[in-house]
Amino acid sequence: MSTRNDEMREIWDRSFAEQIERQAYNTAPVEALVRSVSYYLRARYGQDELSGLHFAEMGCGAGPNLVWLAEKGITVSGVDISPVALDLCRRTLDGAGYGDRVGELVEASVSDVPLPDASLDGILESCVYQHLDRADRIAAFAEIDRLTKPGGLFVGHMLEQGHTVFEQHAGEQQADDPGTLVLEEGGSNIYLTNIGLSHFFTKDEVRSLLPDWTTVDPCLLQYEIPVEEAGKRGYEHYRQSMLVVYAIK
Ligand SMILES: C[S@@+](CC[C@H](N)C(=O)[O-])C[C@H]1O[C@@H](n2cnc3c(N)ncnc32)[C@H](O)[C@@H]1O
Repeated sequence: MSTRNDEMREIWDRSFAEQIERQAYNTAPVEALVRSVSYYLRARYGQDELSGLHFAEMGCGAGPNLVWLAEKGITVSGVDISPVALDLCRRTLDGAGYGDRVGELVEASVSDVPLPDASLDGILESCVYQHLDRADRIAAFAEIDRLTKPGGLFVGHMLEQGHTVFEQHAGEQQADDPGTLVLEEGGSNIYLTNIGLSHFFTKDEVRSLLPDWTTVDPCLLQYEIPVEEAGKRGYEHYRQSMLVVYAIK
């Protein structure tokens, strides 16, 4: 793996070790993903057909989205750069009683996934691609295309350019990668202003990254966070701006 991957593994291993110690890791599935996947499954499959499906999550973390899928009888696989996260994901799935519905939990980068071509009925992603550099981001979308069966689903959840942090720092976009900011202002790295590289997508960009898919439908989700929390982040008002991408190959 590349130096950047080594760096990401170290950051996320440290983050998950701390989250485990504080019992603070995510245990709830991401609502935007749940709604989109539910819509797709209900439109195409009967309840008794779900056990024939295989879904994977890129950057699966503690695995709450995979537990939600496994609960439906779907076989689930997870890809993550952090072995600490993968271990936690395994324990989460086993603890929920779904150990027998796990396909593979793979330590790898989302831009180079060791799973076979056209092996997945669906792929999920939430807040992972937005921290990849340009080359890895393009490779990650190419992997989605390679891994998904015809008619299969991709649902992603990523930063969009209407975000307050992007608007405030638009003048600092990387010259060779518009939409990308590299911010390290100090303080907690749960905030974008200290997480290093963040890429803010546009709808057209997402469409261009999956050029041969029959449907690519990015939905814009914007909301203001409470003023008190905005203040803690150094802003008077703070707008979250995310794309929920619903795509069918
Ligand atoms: C913000 S967390 C999201 C976890 C999960 N998707 C969720 O919704 O709970 C990002 C996850 O992506 C993983 N990750 C970050 N960069 C990655 C990369 N290049 N390849 C694979 N996994 C990566 C991290 O280890 C972490 O588990």
